[in-house]
Amino acid sequence: MTWLRSTLVLALGSSLCSGAILESIADFNKLNVKKIDFIVVGAQDWNYTTTPQRGLNGRSIAYNRGFVLGGSSSVNYMVYTRGSKEDYDRWAKVTKDNTWSWDNLVPYMRKNELFSPPSDGHNTTGQFDPAVHGFHGINAVSLAGFPSPVDARVIETTTQLAEYPFNVDMNSGYQLGIGWGQATIKNGSRSSSATSYLAPQFTSRPNLNVLLHARVTRVLQTNSGAIRTVEFVQDINGQRFTLTAEKEVILSAGSIGTPNILLHSGIGNSSTLTSMGIKPVHNLPSVGQNLSDHCLIFLPFLVNSTDTFENAERNATLAALQFEEWNTSRTGPLVDNPLSHIGWLRIPDNSSIFERFPDPAAGPNTSHYELIVSNGLLGPPPPTGNFLSISPAVVSPVSRGTVTLSSSDLFADPIIDPNLLGSEVDFFIMREALKSALRFSAAPAWENYVISPFGLNSTSTDAEIDDFIRQNTGTVYHPVGTASMSPKGATWGSRGS
Ligand SMILES: *[C@@H]1O[C@H](CO)[C@@H](O)[C@H](O)[C@H]1NC(C)=O
Ligand SMILES: *[C@@H]1O[C@H](CO)[C@@H](O)[C@H](O)[C@H]1NC(C)=O
Ligand SMILES: *[C@@H]1O[C@H](CO)[C@@H](O)[C@H](O)[C@H]1NC(C)=O
Ligand SMILES: *[C@@H]1O[C@H](CO)[C@@H](O)[C@H](O)[C@H]1NC(C)=O
Ligand SMILES: *[C@@H]1O[C@H](CO)[C@@H](O)[C@H](O)[C@H]1NC(C)=O
Ligand SMILES: *[C@@H]1O[C@H](CO)[C@@H](O)[C@H](O)[C@H]1NC(C)=O
Ligand SMILES: *[C@@H]1O[C@H](CO)[C@@H](O)[C@H](O)[C@H]1NC(C)=O
Ligand SMILES: *[C@@H]1O[C@H](CO)[C@@H](O)[C@H](O)[C@H]1NC(C)=O
Ligand SMILES: *[C@@H]1O[C@H](CO)[C@@H](O)[C@H](O)[C@H]1NC(C)=O
Ligand SMILES: *[C@@H]1O[C@H](CO)[C@@H](O)[C@H](O)[C@H]1NC(C)=O
Ligand SMILES: *[C@@H]1O[C@H](CO)[C@@H](O)[C@H](O)[C@H]1NC(C)=O
Repeated sequence: MTWLRSTLVLALGSSLCSGAILESIADFNKLNVKKIDFIVVGAQDWNYTTTPQRGLNGRSIAYNRGFVLGGSSSVNYMVYTRGSKEDYDRWAKVTKDNTWSWDNLVPYMRKNELFSPPSDGHNTTGQFDPAVHGFHGINAVSLAGFPSPVDARVIETTTQLAEYPFNVDMNSGYQLGIGWGQATIKNGSRSSSATSYLAPQFTSRPNLNVLLHARVTRVLQTNSGAIRTVEFVQDINGQRFTLTAEKEVILSAGSIGTPNILLHSGIGNSSTLTSMGIKPVHNLPSVGQNLSDHCLIFLPFLVNSTDTFENAERNATLAALQFEEWNTSRTGPLVDNPLSHIGWLRIPDNSSIFERFPDPAAGPNTSHYELIVSNGLLGPPPPTGNFLSISPAVVSPVSRGTVTLSSSDLFADPIIDPNLLGSEVDFFIMREALKSALRFSAAPAWENYVISPFGLNSTSTDAEIDDFIRQNTGTVYHPVGTASMSPKGATWGSRGS
């Protein structure tokens, strides 16, 4: 039998059983659980690839999604970013439900958060604002725990160029400026939904079972018509099993997995589903539509330093020493994610693009793009050279894509079209963000350090920059919107029923 290390089913039952992490449904059946209150469906890397992207010269790109316990929270960059107050307030406006406003959600962010010391224990005064964080939650967040040789230059730049003000805490609701990166890391290790919410203190609860090797294929109606049954397999060629919840099924399979499961279940555009031979259960044409994602370019600069990521990437002895240090004491360069600082920035209000299109940001204090600072080149390094990266990402995307089915085959990959840079606005912002990264790197703080940008430079024409963008843009892997909330009674989305 081929175990499927994919979607997990998490069954929160009554206290009739002893809680466990289980390998097979047969083991679960032995527990003789009489009543399951909730079933949570989670997704895990699926090795997806996008359709050829028009905005990227027809390139298809890898679209990683976590394939382990904890889903994509187990494989992401661990960046802790809440977003701006205006983002949440717009969310409340779109859903016509004030529950989603910043003021209403902040207490839950704090409740979730376990703000922790960095692994090197350095004094973090002035690097974040304790007043806006939670220190008793479940998901750990911390500042970098290994000093980067570029730290001081980044902070110096904020005092030299007015365009890049220092922001002590980008997660306070006011995000604009440059600040220290916060990451979902505790004592040098990843804090994912698997290490936090499935930590031993939770999995030892008597009424919680986690079933491994279970891939959910569909959600099904019970006799009453409610969707409370989950269908899954433990072997692609094997039997299909079902479990039914008394109360709810929480479909939390991510922006790709969730619409994929819903569409196979007959929940989507009924006419499209019928044409594919899937029996429609509920006509909800928004399922899989409105896919929205953040574009990213790794922008490296050649630097006058020998103390960058490339060293260990090109020297197996050094890499092994760094690993050993991490493995024994959770110290050294491997305690951090690959970024030290982030900037949240806007293109100017008088930009020519706004003559033809509205400002896509949620408000005047919300960024259009992000600059991500790393002490090295992200991705496989060239044979020589040391690097700094100031990588731009478009965080106010206008472009929308889709997740659709290729066939009624339950195990076929869905068709993923994020439509990256599909909008002129996104392209404009990416071009301006690249120019901004070049300006940032030209601050006096980088004198004698930055030698030259790698791939483009300040004399590049717009046409050369555009070509660079199309050839180099990828994603930050932030897909959202394919099973979105909508106001009660709306003609789109989940229709809030
Ligand atoms: C993704 O690719 C890796 C490496 O080839 C493989 O081990 C893994 O099983 C693949 N995942 C799926 C869902 O097929
Ligand atoms: C940390 O630094 C701040 C400001 O530099 C200082 O006031 C504070 O006493 C320091 N804390 C510790 C524990 O050393
Ligand atoms: C449903 O899909 C069909 C094509 O299969 C399309 O013509 C129609 O506009 C879609 N309906 C909605 C409401 O989006
Ligand atoms: C996409 O979302 C917008 C709201 O942001 C909504 O107006 C529109 O109807 C949605 N489109 C689809 C196909 O659901
Ligand atoms: C590789 O790293 C080790 C350990 O730091 C060091 O002793 C050695 O000189 C390095 N090798 C090269 C070629 O730089
Ligand atoms: C990491 O440390 C653990 C003990 O904490 C040890 O069992 C393991 O072998 C180490 N791994 C490597 C690759 O050295
Ligand atoms: C961090 O992890 C290391 C290695 O497991 C351990 O020795 C150390 O006590 C931990 N520190 C904290 C503050 O938990
Ligand atoms: C926008 O305003 C700034 C400062 O007021 C000015 O320098 C710049 O030329 C203007 N840009 C455009 C596109 O009008
Ligand atoms: C933007 O933020 C600044 C600084 O917090 C504040 O003074 C201003 O009122 C905000 N603007 C809007 C439109 O909210
Ligand atoms: C490299 O840095 C040294 C000082 O550390 C300086 O003398 C030299 O001019 C720098 N080289 C470049 C190309 O910036
Ligand atoms: C800038 O880039 C262009 C095209 O890659 C190249 O021809 C030119 O020499 C570069 N200029 C500088 C100053 O590096």
